[in-house]
Amino acid sequence: MNIDSKRKDEHVELAEKQYQTASQSDFQKIRFVHHSFPQIKTDDVSLASHMLGHDMPLPFYINGMTGGSDKTKDINARLAEVAKELNLVMASGSVSAAIKHPELSDSFRVIREVNPNGFVLANVGAHHSVENAKRAVAILEANALQIHVNAPQELVMPEGDRDLSMWLNQIEQIVANVGVPVMVKEVGFGMSRETVQQLINVGVEWVDVSGRGGTNFAAIENARRTTFSYDDLENWGQSTVISLLEAHDMADDVHLLASGGVKSPYDIIKALSLGAEAVGLSGQFLHMVVNDGPEKTIETVEAWKEKMIAIMTLLGKTSVKELQKTDLIFQRDIIDWCDMRGIDYRKFSKRSN
Ligand code: FNR
Repeated sequence: MNIDSKRKDEHVELAEKQYQTASQSDFQKIRFVHHSFPQIKTDDVSLASHMLGHDMPLPFYINGMTGGSDKTKDINARLAEVAKELNLVMASGSVSAAIKHPELSDSFRVIREVNPNGFVLANVGAHHSVENAKRAVAILEANALQIHVNAPQELVMPEGDRDLSMWLNQIEQIVANVGVPVMVKEVGFGMSRETVQQLINVGVEWVDVSGRGGTNFAAIENARRTTFSYDDLENWGQSTVISLLEAHDMADDVHLLASGGVKSPYDIIKALSLGAEAVGLSGQFLHMVVNDGPEKTIETVEAWKEKMIAIMTLLGKTSVKELQKTDLIFQRDIIDWCDMRGIDYRKFSKRSN
């Protein structure tokens, strides 16, 4: 097996090994203010949202994970089955492996084969050329492209890239020339407002802040190392909640998406309330398809829908957009971050009237 396929299998194994049922995310550190009169009924609530020019019945998607080996082909097939049944947008993992080794293409293409009419995203790293990005899109017949930025992962990864000097230029080129809508995402380290502004400046319209709190690629790559350890970097980065607060005032200039540590319908609702237009889940979907299989996963997500409608009714909000008018209370360490970064956190506590 080549080193790229081996790495893909190790990522899946380690993500699953390090998966924690109890959320470690900052979603636990925000609360809604309860108001006693919702004044709506469950039938009034719509879970519909949109991303990258595509209307979606549900405001969440299966975020980029895998492909590049036999084992991950099977996982992609399972995930695609779930995506097809529930009409979810689904992203592949980085298609780099298939660009380098064309014989691995079918482990990605399976996503399209299982779900011929689905909205599918191909995924590449920010060091790739426009030509490679086009090849990734072609392999999956993808409707859109995800470009991932993952500096901490590359540097902790023993065989990772060491030249990170051209990423913004490459992103600018790809956005201008790839011919499909583009989303730029982190991989669980979150974004700052400076980062989001740089992306806006190079023409990016869709950003997934993908923050800390779930899958931890510093920890995953550290576990793959055989020489000295980088365990002091396992705490690197901003949580998804902090990242959304950082980017909040830029929502007029860019479409915000969120992922990182999202495990439940309640987490999804909280991310939407902080300004995300849709929410991505990776580790949680991986955990469900590997352990429960696609059918049971579909059942679980059907239950999530009901729960999301219940929570939105409780909040008196009939649409995803209206969730941005909910009242949120933050725990102290989130407030400390906002204080130091000059983010007006108080406004979130009194948005409902
Ligand atoms: C990932 N992620 C990822 N992201 C990306 O853009 N390209 C990739 O190839 C991968 N590969 C990958 C493999 C596995 C096994 C996992 C679990 C995740 C990162 C992913 O899209 C997401 O940004 C982070 O995992 C944070 O979200 P969760 O897992 O906490 O929901």
